[in-house]
Amino acid sequence: MSEHVEIIDRDGVLEIHFARPDKKNALTGAMYRAITAAMADASARADIGAILFAGHGDAFSAGNDLKDFLSGPEGGAAAFEFINALAVFDKPVVAAVQGLAVGVGTTLLFHCDLVYAAPDACFIMPFVNLGLVPEAGSSLLAPATLGHAKAAAMLLLGEPMDAEAADRAGLLTAIVPADILIDHARSKALALTTKPPQALAHTRRLMKGDPAILASRIEQEAVLFRQTLASAEAKEAFTAFFEKRPPVFQRQN
Ligand code: COA
Repeated sequence: MSEHVEIIDRDGVLEIHFARPDKKNALTGAMYRAITAAMADASARADIGAILFAGHGDAFSAGNDLKDFLSGPEGGAAAFEFINALAVFDKPVVAAVQGLAVGVGTTLLFHCDLVYAAPDACFIMPFVNLGLVPEAGSSLLAPATLGHAKAAAMLLLGEPMDAEAADRAGLLTAIVPADILIDHARSKALALTTKPPQALAHTRRLMKGDPAILASRIEQEAVLFRQTLASAEAKEAFTAFFEKRPPVFQRQN
């Protein structure tokens, strides 16, 4: 499906590894499509009890591929499909995060049930810096998880949050030494597969609350995201990134 996504089917857990380490696992349309297809497969199969997200190399994910964004709204379509699938995904989701988790690399974690991170993990949601708005329900889920003031530092200022702070703020289940991170996350995903599936599914749904509220926020964000993606601010931010220079934004009166 995509050479940059590795799927490992093991002991009732479907592992989805972002496998584009030379680009810090930045997610392309093809990668999103492969991930969404793997999730649909996991959802349909009775022998799969949980999924696990992980990244190859030194980063979890640098977020959406900025070249795809530059190619216009179509570049984002597969990302929105992934986000919608994740928001309603009906089995437990575990993540193992090392290094950078940027943009959707962080916002997907708000939808995970168990998040394990290496001490070097660093979470960044730079949407405003890119002339964009938050996605994946993060304008709702980040303040709910972290508190408004911590979420504002990340979403308005674009400030990074390190693993210790993320653990204190409630984004993480635990910080785990890097050399045992993936095995630890695997063992927890495996533990979930041994639980009574009905009770587990009911409990997850109760914990997540009314899905309509989240779906409505994701849609509101998507409308604004598409608008801002076509803005001069976003074009300047993406162009500056690839030209390796600071962006210059024009203030409109
Ligand atoms: N989209 C496309 N390519 C990306 C990328 C992204 N989101 N993030 C990193 N890359 C590419 C870089 O262009 C570079 O490619 P090159 O080797 O061909 O020049 C390669 O991945 C390595 O990245 P680099 O910037 O050299 O690594 P770094 O360690 O100095 O910085 C980041 C890592 C993640 C901090 C930096 O790459 C970055 O800010 N990326 C953009 C993150 C972002 O804004 N994501 C979108 C959120 S909505």
